[in-house]
Amino acid sequence: MEETTSDETVEQEVEEFAGRVFGQLLGAMELLSIHLGDRLGLYQALLQGPATAAELSERAGVHERYVREWLEQQAVAGILEVEGETDAASFRLPAAQAEVLTNPASLAYSAPFARLFVSAAAQMPSLLAAYRSGGGVPWARFGADARDGQGDVNRPWFEHALPDALASVPAVHDVLSRPEAGIADVACGHGWSTIALARAYPDAIVEGFDLDRPAIESAREHAAGIDNVTFAELRGEQIAEQGEERYDAAFVFEALHDLPDPVGVLTSVRRALRPDGIVVVMDEAVAETFAPPGDDVERAMYGYSILMCLPDSMSTPGSIATGTVMRPATLERYAREAGFSAVSVLPIEGFAAFRFYLLEP
Ligand SMILES: C[S@@+](CC[C@H](N)C(=O)[O-])C[C@H]1O[C@@H](n2cnc3c(N)ncnc32)[C@H](O)[C@@H]1O
Repeated sequence: MEETTSDETVEQEVEEFAGRVFGQLLGAMELLSIHLGDRLGLYQALLQGPATAAELSERAGVHERYVREWLEQQAVAGILEVEGETDAASFRLPAAQAEVLTNPASLAYSAPFARLFVSAAAQMPSLLAAYRSGGGVPWARFGADARDGQGDVNRPWFEHALPDALASVPAVHDVLSRPEAGIADVACGHGWSTIALARAYPDAIVEGFDLDRPAIESAREHAAGIDNVTFAELRGEQIAEQGEERYDAAFVFEALHDLPDPVGVLTSVRRALRPDGIVVVMDEAVAETFAPPGDDVERAMYGYSILMCLPDSMSTPGSIATGTVMRPATLERYAREAGFSAVSVLPIEGFAAFRFYLLEP
């Protein structure tokens, strides 16, 4: 009798888990369909108003047969709304979907998540090889979808939430407000954080650094017309070469866990810092300890870790191989090994899925 109950329980669990995996298949396919709409400009074209397949094909310059299938799939998935039937059916992008999929200024902008997902999926053969050999897949190989996805996913937070977040912490705001404060943004990617700092603190001199040349080129384009910001292609390990005691503040936004040698970079940053300077590290707000099952943040960060951040970090021989899930104790250990005497968590809450750390020399 007991055995039957247990068999039934297992059967039910099998069914539930198979259902969960099927749900994930739907999610993954719909995320890819969002990528098609994003990269082909279909959502953007729908901002002009509802369209039939023929009209949208004309507007976006995409083959009509594919457009019709994609429109129907989007309606079935509940992303687009539809009026009318067959060839005359007209498809509409509702306001909420328009914001989430087409508005780069919105904190809810989510099209970049699809770009990040596609950039990782496209590297599956290299990832499989790296897992077997212990090698890696460098960030540059993930390509434009990863670079743009990363830049655009953080951009609204840097543009619209970072100034107030920093201003709310006197220990940080006062340093950034010093006359002609020198500020370094290490591993700045597309430079949106660097630009936000330059705009929020117009008297400061803000310098963004990244080892990725295309990212630096994009950052320079994004910063056109802003006087107090410059960008240079430079490894974080070389920041001290910019000058000892040069900076009042240095930032590392969502990049410390990617660095093959975080202690080396922090050591160099510390040397480049004035004795009364500060370092702010923004990184993932993961749990204090490994305690599965995890919440959505923990699940997302392990997802990025197995697909992108760990393989990127491990593409450098001798990497410390942190992975995306850098717990607070790990960050504190790196900071202390780099010579920082104090590490604390800043009272900045609700800033996407990030935690801000303050490092003092
Ligand atoms: C996840 S992205 C973060 C970019 C940006 N800070 C942001 O928040 O959008 C990580 C960045 O670290 C850069 N990076 C990795 N290793 C580096 C190193 N040793 N020195 C400088 N930049 C590095 C990569 O090129 C990439 O732009």
